[in-house]
Amino acid sequence: MIKHEQGGPAGLFLTLEGPDGAGKTTQARLLQERLQALGKEVLLVREPGGTAVGEIIRGLLLDPRYPEMTVACEVLLYSAARAQLVVEQIRPALARGAVVISDRYWDSTLVYQGLAGREDLAMIQSINFWATGGLAPHRTFLLDLEAEKGLLRVRGAKGDLRPAGGDRIEQRELDFHRRVRRGFLELASWEQKRICVIPADKAAPLVHDCIWEKVIPLLQ
Ligand SMILES: Nc1ncnc2c1ncn2[C@@H]1O[C@H](COP(=O)(O)OP(=O)(O)OP(=O)(O)O)[C@@H](O)[C@H]1O
Ligand SMILES: [Mg+2]
Repeated sequence: MIKHEQGGPAGLFLTLEGPDGAGKTTQARLLQERLQALGKEVLLVREPGGTAVGEIIRGLLLDPRYPEMTVACEVLLYSAARAQLVVEQIRPALARGAVVISDRYWDSTLVYQGLAGREDLAMIQSINFWATGGLAPHRTFLLDLEAEKGLLRVRGAKGDLRPAGGDRIEQRELDFHRRVRRGFLELASWEQKRICVIPADKAAPLVHDCIWEKVIPLLQ
């Protein structure tokens, strides 16, 4: 793996990763509240986005009018938004001594487009290393959940309670989500010091407790 610069000079850089519906956004908010209750300055950012340029790129990535967008194009757009976020938001906050929580970061690109999307992983790593100036999180919490359960949670939030994987398109979707889950676990096995695997198949406050237990020593 690439040698990264970790977290900047003073602050603490934490990221939340995991498949769709694993609870990243929920846990990012709980962690933010817990840290703020201790009087810490917290910057919570979501990817892609978080800057004026990044929000435009986000719109492009989510726009259904461009189904022809290639995986290479996606990699470059996600990485471009990340480059902007690091310079405009993350580095300045770390320099002030803040805790930065990012809801997804480069691991998502390595997994979705690289390991699950089967694009060139080493190239995606190089692009991200260059785009971020090698800024690695101090700690990454990988919320691990079965693909079916994650998809059910996402659907449940939209009021759709059908089981995942019903028709052929959904089966393909489910296969991809399984590859995403495996991809994240593979990444975690390569970088055991940075990436903590957190079982996410329990109530949100219990998942939060598992994360918090691992954050406390990082605050000292
Ligand atoms: N531990 C949990 N148990 C059950 N439901 C949960 C849990 N955590 C979050 N949820 C619910 O599951 C749905 C997805 O959660 P959340 O948006 O936090 O996931 P996410 O990982 O950010 O998803 P996405 O990848 O789509 O952004 C939400 O409706 C949320 O309320
Ligand atoms: Mg989310």
